[in-house]
Amino acid sequence: MRRNPAEIAKMRRAGAVVAEMHEATRKAAQPGVTTAQLDRVAREVLDRRAARSNFLHYRGYPAVICTSPNDMIVHGIPGSYVLKEGDILSIDCGAIIEGYHGDAAFTMAIGEVSAQAKRLIEVTEQSLWAGIAQLRDGRHLHEVGRAVQQVAEAAGFSVVREYVGHAIGTAMHEEPQVPNYWPGKPGPVIKTGHVFAVEPMVNVGGPQTRTLEDGWSVVTADGSLSAHFEHTIAVTEDGPVVLTVP
Ligand code: MF3
Ligand code: CO
Repeated sequence: MRRNPAEIAKMRRAGAVVAEMHEATRKAAQPGVTTAQLDRVAREVLDRRAARSNFLHYRGYPAVICTSPNDMIVHGIPGSYVLKEGDILSIDCGAIIEGYHGDAAFTMAIGEVSAQAKRLIEVTEQSLWAGIAQLRDGRHLHEVGRAVQQVAEAAGFSVVREYVGHAIGTAMHEEPQVPNYWPGKPGPVIKTGHVFAVEPMVNVGGPQTRTLEDGWSVVTADGSLSAHFEHTIAVTEDGPVVLTVP
């Protein structure tokens, strides 16, 4: 669906709230802090900005953010997990302003982490930017996944297949999907006014996933570390514009 400039301006406001949730949770994420505390910090930002949560109650989801440590890929429910030095933690945040959605995620180090963990975080963020650079009018959507996959695999890592990015607007998840790999065909043509959430999930080991008994938490099947970066991006005449920034 193509969004007009007024709609994109609202998504930009939602994106700014998401960016503020990132800043607040990043600052709060220290050894000894629980992931439930991070959810509270994120709720305070939503309240302060009079924004609604798109995560809370989504298919029964019980929190406003997802917190996924170490081998957890996505959709970790904030709770009693206590962060410790050496962890990596993925934090996924979303917000709604005047009916328009923002969605973005990042992975951070808790204190000092292994060289491999650091590299995983760097490469996953790089893969996101390589994907974003493909979001130009006239290109094919699956070029995004091709670019993401190339960066991740060149570093010796693998890209998750079962979870993908998505168009976003008046719902968090709109069609079409945005795979983080080349699915064998070019996909739809990208047009000015399209808005996508691009969100590579990159594993140190294999791409296979497993869902825990809580029905949400997705972990790597082989127990290897995983990172996740996401932005909401509008396609404009001047190229991609990231909306989930301060
Ligand atoms: N941000 C996630 C995505 O991009 C959605 C989180 S699932 C929820 O799809 F249940 F937490 F909302
Ligand atoms: Co998303």
